[in-house]
Amino acid sequence: MSKQVSICVIGSGYVGLVAAVCFAEIGHKVICVDNNEAKVKMLREGGVPIYEEHLPDLLAKHLNRGVEFSCELGPAIEQCDAIFIAVGTPQGSTGSADLSYVEAVVSEIARSVNGYKVLVEKSTVPVYTNEWVSRCMHRHGVEPHNFDVVSNPEFLREGTAIEDFLHPDRIVIGANNKRSADLLRDIYAPLTDGSYYAKPDALPGMLSAEKPATLLVTSAQSAEIIKHASNAFLALKISFINAISNLAESVDADIEDIAAGMGLDSRIGPKFLRAGLGYGGSCFPKDVAAFYWVAQQQGIDFQILEEVRKINATQQEIFFNKVRSALWTLRGKKLAALGLAFKGDTDDIRDSPAIDVIKKLIAAGATISAYDPAAMDKAKAVLPAGESISYAASPYEAAEGADAVLILTDWKEFAKLDLQKLNVALKFPIIIDGRNLYKPAEMLELGFTYVSVGRPAAYTAQQGKPRKLVLS
Ligand code: UDX
Ligand code: UDX
Repeated sequence: MSKQVSICVIGSGYVGLVAAVCFAEIGHKVICVDNNEAKVKMLREGGVPIYEEHLPDLLAKHLNRGVEFSCELGPAIEQCDAIFIAVGTPQGSTGSADLSYVEAVVSEIARSVNGYKVLVEKSTVPVYTNEWVSRCMHRHGVEPHNFDVVSNPEFLREGTAIEDFLHPDRIVIGANNKRSADLLRDIYAPLTDGSYYAKPDALPGMLSAEKPATLLVTSAQSAEIIKHASNAFLALKISFINAISNLAESVDADIEDIAAGMGLDSRIGPKFLRAGLGYGGSCFPKDVAAFYWVAQQQGIDFQILEEVRKINATQQEIFFNKVRSALWTLRGKKLAALGLAFKGDTDDIRDSPAIDVIKKLIAAGATISAYDPAAMDKAKAVLPAGESISYAASPYEAAEGADAVLILTDWKEFAKLDLQKLNVALKFPIIIDGRNLYKPAEMLELGFTYVSVGRPAAYTAQQGKPRKLVLS
């Protein structure tokens, strides 16, 4: 039986809450601390503040058994050996990561140290944060033999975070001595020795007792760079295919076939090659900017990352122009917007391309009728219902009397709409698809003008080809 470790997780957000529940799932004793009292109260009552598959079940299974929630950091530090820092590291004004929450938490930890502790960076942080955290602990008078700081970056995708945690492609530990590395090995042992997967109630996934998780142990700096470099590379892959999609469109090629042809090369692979509205979320935009800033601080001009960002921003302008090209004028037009979250299977609207495009359309005088299966509550906080936007109970209600439907988020249900019903609801049969969920030929047969990304527009003779307007 693996060793049970007492773990404190600071931050019960998209990453901290998932980590806390999953550590309990693999057998550890967890106290999850957050300074948002409303959130802690909700969690203590069994409520789930974020939309993640499996999270409600695991929370119910471990609440007040393997995991408890608190606002009191001091007692949690005293009782725990490993302290995971998963507080927000939002993008600062210069593009650098804002580490003020991390520093505030480290100062609080220092005041409660009562023996050897391992501080673990779970939040995405720039390289050398490890050194800053150590310096901060020293400044608060903590003896060097009483703590170590390690990096254990998270590779969780929202919507699949629980599965990504329990069935990881890899676990990365950045530690500068054996003692701290061994504690992290103990924590992840149920996944790396496979014993977790042998349990009858283990979450099913790609790993098993015979094929357990891979652990990579390296220096703290290397681990910090692995996280930023991985996200930056994934964002590069997306911007690359988006740039190709614009070239494809100019010569009437088909980006879906191009991506399929590229992805069959095992060195490229099919994942993260979907052209569309560009990437969003609380990680890629922030991590690309933070990584560019970190390189600059080291005197390295990481120009390719600037290109990744520019291509991504242009992709939304190109989509906005597609809407103009299909509708001619936007003022007074009613547009049905399907999707508000930054991607399907999440309620998160942080840096959502869907929200950004909707704001541009409202500014151009259009009125929006929006629908999203999970993100409407969060969207209403930033785009309150009013004369420029309303929220519908279904895609068909959103499309009622609309001049066109815009598909902005790749929810699975948006790929299986009742297109006849949609056509009846619409004032004009026009669909502008930012996520390429349908095939142009099929849409033409159903009588739609169908505009998508990196593929020729589909339109009937009498509707006429949408006029391609230059970027505004
Ligand atoms: C965060 C970072 O933003 C991301 O870069 C990193 O990869 C993982 O951790 P996320 O979990 O999405 O991502 O952050 P968020 O959802 O904002 O949750 C942070 C939590 O920490 C919030 O619940 C907040 O209340 C809490 N917090 C923040 C504290 O408990 N104390 C603080 O001082 C600051
Ligand atoms: C990402 C990383 O995948 C994850 O490893 C890291 O820990 C956190 O950041 P996440 O931001 O939750 O995860 O979502 P992801 O599935 O990576 O999608 C990010 C954005 O890229 C979304 O806006 C999505 O719509 C877009 N995307 C993704 C594309 O446009 N095309 C693709 O092929 C894949």
